[in-house]
Amino acid sequence: MTKRIEVLFSEEVIAETVGSLARAVAAPRPDDLLVVAILKGSFMFAADLLRALHREGLAPQVEFMMLSSYGAGTVSSGSVRIVRDIDTDVRGRQVLLVDDILESGRTLAFARALMAERGAASVKVAVLLDKPGKRQAACEADHVGFVCPDKFVVGYGMDAAHQWRQLPFVGVVVDDADKAA
Ligand code: IMP
Ligand code: MG
Repeated sequence: MTKRIEVLFSEEVIAETVGSLARAVAAPRPDDLLVVAILKGSFMFAADLLRALHREGLAPQVEFMMLSSYGAGTVSSGSVRIVRDIDTDVRGRQVLLVDDILESGRTLAFARALMAERGAASVKVAVLLDKPGKRQAACEADHVGFVCPDKFVVGYGMDAAHQWRQLPFVGVVVDDADKAA
């Protein structure tokens, strides 16, 4: 059983798109931006987006939050748990939540509500990938890199069973044995 990865979004295409996202985020010239990256999946996207924001002349602060969603696929009311919280007070701040994929919307709906409840002046959302067909919670992103087909994707920070996060591109795991069958 050989597994290989079929490239969906290449390194070059991702780099271009991240540059466009940074230009869109920087356009309103936010003066007090706090980027909150949702771990683990967003680490590579967040790192590239932050460097692109720097190139646009912004100097955002950066925070990390680890969230875990339960019940996706099994329990329709799947809930979200804070595994690691941010250390920064968000009161009055312009928060930009950064995540890898917007799928059911539960994770980002939770994070957005949490930041608003804590008194953020504004909360925006940037995601690399959007799977609009899978939405369960009312949550849309302000900035979307790519609309993603309804396939399980890996790479560029995203994993399948703790593997493939290191890939510099986004791809789909293909099982050649399955294809032959
Ligand atoms: P949701 O929007 O709450 O369903 O959560 C989306 C999260 O599920 C993302 O941040 C990813 O961590 C994970 N996820 C969803 N789809 C995929 C995928 O295709 N590959 C890897 N992780 C995924
Ligand atoms: Mg995630």
